[in-house]
Amino acid sequence: MNLNIALLAGDGIGPEIVEQALRVTKAIAQKFGHELHTKEALVGAVAIDATGNPYPDETHELCMNSDAVLFGAIGHPRFDNDPSAKVRPEQGLLAMRKKLGLFANIRPLITFPSLLDKSPLKTERIEGADFVAIRELTGGLYFGQPQGRSENGDTAYDTCIYTRMEVERILKLAFEFAMKRKKRLTVVDKANVLATSRLWRQISKEMEPQYPEVEVEYMFVDNAAMQLIQWPKRFDVMVTENMFGDILTDEASVIAGSLGMLPSASIGVHTSVFEPIHGSYPQAAGKNIANPCATILSAAMLFEYAYALDKEASLIRKAVEASLEAGAVTEDLTDDKANALSTSAVGDWIVAYIQNC
Ligand code: IPM
Ligand code: MN
Repeated sequence: MNLNIALLAGDGIGPEIVEQALRVTKAIAQKFGHELHTKEALVGAVAIDATGNPYPDETHELCMNSDAVLFGAIGHPRFDNDPSAKVRPEQGLLAMRKKLGLFANIRPLITFPSLLDKSPLKTERIEGADFVAIRELTGGLYFGQPQGRSENGDTAYDTCIYTRMEVERILKLAFEFAMKRKKRLTVVDKANVLATSRLWRQISKEMEPQYPEVEVEYMFVDNAAMQLIQWPKRFDVMVTENMFGDILTDEASVIAGSLGMLPSASIGVHTSVFEPIHGSYPQAAGKNIANPCATILSAAMLFEYAYALDKEASLIRKAVEASLEAGAVTEDLTDDKANALSTSAVGDWIVAYIQNC
């Protein structure tokens, strides 16, 4: 198969981790006889520096003309510490999500047996936890208008808006995911307070009869935050709005032992984007110490979602698991810092495993 993939490495550790995911993708393409074509484009702070725009038109065009996008991270401390900055790297990510119509962000959470002791939670609580969080990605507080400040600057406002169309399409996807899994769906909202949540709940109840096999539960987001930590194994598919999903999935990542392990897929109307759920980790940028596994596992999701190449995806996951079991890990995953591998050495290990498999 011809694989046309756009590489948007972005800021911070983005370039280092995308490089390793690209090497893994090349190894897989070679092994399975695919022809890989990649093109790079700018996004985030590097794009602001080069063009003044965090998501330049050329980048959007490349994404639109590719089968899939492999994305690193964006964000720079220079902007975090300057609330008055007019253009921010994060706007690039939000513009990309909106323009590509990426309304669903899929964040699978599994535990790796060899990492159980890295989680701050007790092993018996998390062992075997396996769920998918589906986060709505192009609506809610992130995009609602009006957003801004009053003239004197002393009042600020954000607007949370959801339309029936937006809610229906994300819930449909969530019901379909549940059908392919254990047929349990948790709809997370704040329907005791928010009008948008009540719309979500109403639409979900209307849709329930179309999926009679799916057992649906409704959970307030504050309760969900607690249940995630207390009893993560109770979840199968969780669906929620943009902001709740942002917060709950960071929380969920500690279950896996490291934020450095979790991949994601953003899918919707146009080209899908595959990215780690962690950020740009500026303290580690350029040091070759960051964990590349979340990005490598995002490449696995790319093979699965963008091309339905499941064997390729499985081999990547198997290689990552083997590296963990062999202790070929970066410093976030070991107490033995002296023997921790670099970002590129973990890439070497995983590529070699794939080649020798
Ligand atoms: C994420 C990130 C982004 C978000 C930021 C960088 C805008 O935290 O992908 O979860 O809040 O969506
Ligand atoms: Mn986030």
